[in-house]
Amino acid sequence: MEVIILENQQAASELASKRILSLVTQTPNCVLGFATGSTPLKTYELLGEAKSQQNIDFSKITSFNLDEYVGLPTDHASSYSYYMHQHVFGPLGLSPEQYHLPNGMAANIELECQQYEQKIKERGPIDLQILGIGRDGHIGFNEPGSSLGSRTRLKTLTETTRGDNKAHFQDQRVPYHVVTMGIQSIMEASEILLLAFGDAKADAIAKTVEGPITASVPASALQYHPKVKIFLDLAAASKLQNLEYYQEVYRKKPAWQLAEFI
Ligand code: PGA
Repeated sequence: MEVIILENQQAASELASKRILSLVTQTPNCVLGFATGSTPLKTYELLGEAKSQQNIDFSKITSFNLDEYVGLPTDHASSYSYYMHQHVFGPLGLSPEQYHLPNGMAANIELECQQYEQKIKERGPIDLQILGIGRDGHIGFNEPGSSLGSRTRLKTLTETTRGDNKAHFQDQRVPYHVVTMGIQSIMEASEILLLAFGDAKADAIAKTVEGPITASVPASALQYHPKVKIFLDLAAASKLQNLEYYQEVYRKKPAWQLAEFI
């Protein structure tokens, strides 16, 4: 795990967007795994700016989203489909053949999950998966207790997560159920970029990076992944025991390694 601590969310989002842009420039037909939530918003804004100002070409990428609420139509303002059109698909000019989200309105959710996995298998592997993290250590919507071997399936949200997500619902009525890629599906991405900002994420980050690998902290499974970068602001990093060491590693990175890294 590479833990990279930047002074604030802006700096971390700039680094994240650089990593994504570097991949898209080098491999125009790459497969990106997108996350939703407040955390990656700045990164997405920077990608949109790069597209309009530097003319970066996103027309050959394919994308897969981590999750979607069950029972929200795609035009519902709190659906992740709506979020993605607003913040990513629209600004990057992606066409419908390029992006994939689980369909939370499917009549047969189990079949939808199997088909989503199949699509990832056919078009994948995901070259770069972007992740946020919940206060309870979830990635995607894999809540504590999720099997570390899980694949795309229906999950029930915890009250913590429903409470955290209320702010994104005008009527505060957060669905109980979601479809989410599983931990194993996420782990099959070639590279993972997890972003976390603010005090509220500090405990989850400390457990993810320095705690035992356990289904009780789903993000801790990432300790098994050979290529994970975790971009944090100082607040999210504040409970890490080896904070100074991570800062030292980043400061001392040889130039060739930094170039490869970005
Ligand atoms: P947030 O959510 O980015 O809105 O904090 C992250 C998550 O729940 O995975």
